[in-house]
Amino acid sequence: MDILNLVDISVHYDAVVALDNVSLGVSEGEVVAVMGPNGAGKSTVLKAIMGLAPVVGGEVYWQQRPLEAATHEIVKQGISFVPQGRRVFTHLTVAENLEMGCLYLNNAAEKARRLDSVMELFPILHQKRDDLASQMSGGQQQMLALGRGLMAAPDVLLLDEPTLGLAPIVVKEVFQKVAEISDRLNTTILVVEHNIKGVLDIVDRAYVLDKGRVVHDGTPQSVRDTDILTQVFLGS
Ligand SMILES: Nc1ncnc2c1ncn2[C@@H]1O[C@H](COP(=O)(O)OP(=O)(O)OP(=O)(O)O)[C@@H](O)[C@H]1O
Ligand SMILES: [Mg+2]
Repeated sequence: MDILNLVDISVHYDAVVALDNVSLGVSEGEVVAVMGPNGAGKSTVLKAIMGLAPVVGGEVYWQQRPLEAATHEIVKQGISFVPQGRRVFTHLTVAENLEMGCLYLNNAAEKARRLDSVMELFPILHQKRDDLASQMSGGQQQMLALGRGLMAAPDVLLLDEPTLGLAPIVVKEVFQKVAEISDRLNTTILVVEHNIKGVLDIVDRAYVLDKGRVVHDGTPQSVRDTDILTQVFLGS
């Protein structure tokens, strides 16, 4: 059964139709990719879920009920968003950045427990816990952004372009981490990606968006078997 659903979602930025009747769903425990060219509406899908996009039609369902919480309340419901561009707090330490992921939590023991578990998953964050985030490389900052997302102990993690701008070897590491989060924590993951080859290796299912519409939905193999990606990326 789907844990998160978009049903006929349309998003308009004035005259720009960013999403046009988009329906997609993610089942508990699944890792699902959203792919497509620049401007296809990928980030808008995640923003629509988070209440950060001007939705003009349709409904987002969370655990079968309309998701009506305000953006800052959504994380408490179990949905954690790691936006495009990482956005770590460069003037804060690694540990302080991680704590920003569960600011609403008043239980110090639980906070400490989560810090330990995130640092276990990301040894580099443990090693650099007292360093400023500005002192970390791009790949390390991406790990920090992932770790911060996990501090909310989410049921669903929304990732927007987690490998953007990273060197190939680091891209591989990020994908391995995403797969590990799914395996070890059983977190449901919806990931927007440009890096098609890498992401298809770690997901259960993929949606392809083009010009605000879903043009394909299926297993990674079904994506590889069609020429849908050539069509949408090259417009052929
Ligand atoms: N705040 C905004 N105001 C106006 N138009 C916007 C805004 N945000 C996005 N758009 C437009 O909506 C469409 C979808 O944008 P979106 O950011 O979802 O694309 P994307 O698939 O994530 O692209 P990219 O791969 O470049 O990140 C684009 O045409 C974009 O120009
Ligand atoms: Mg985007």
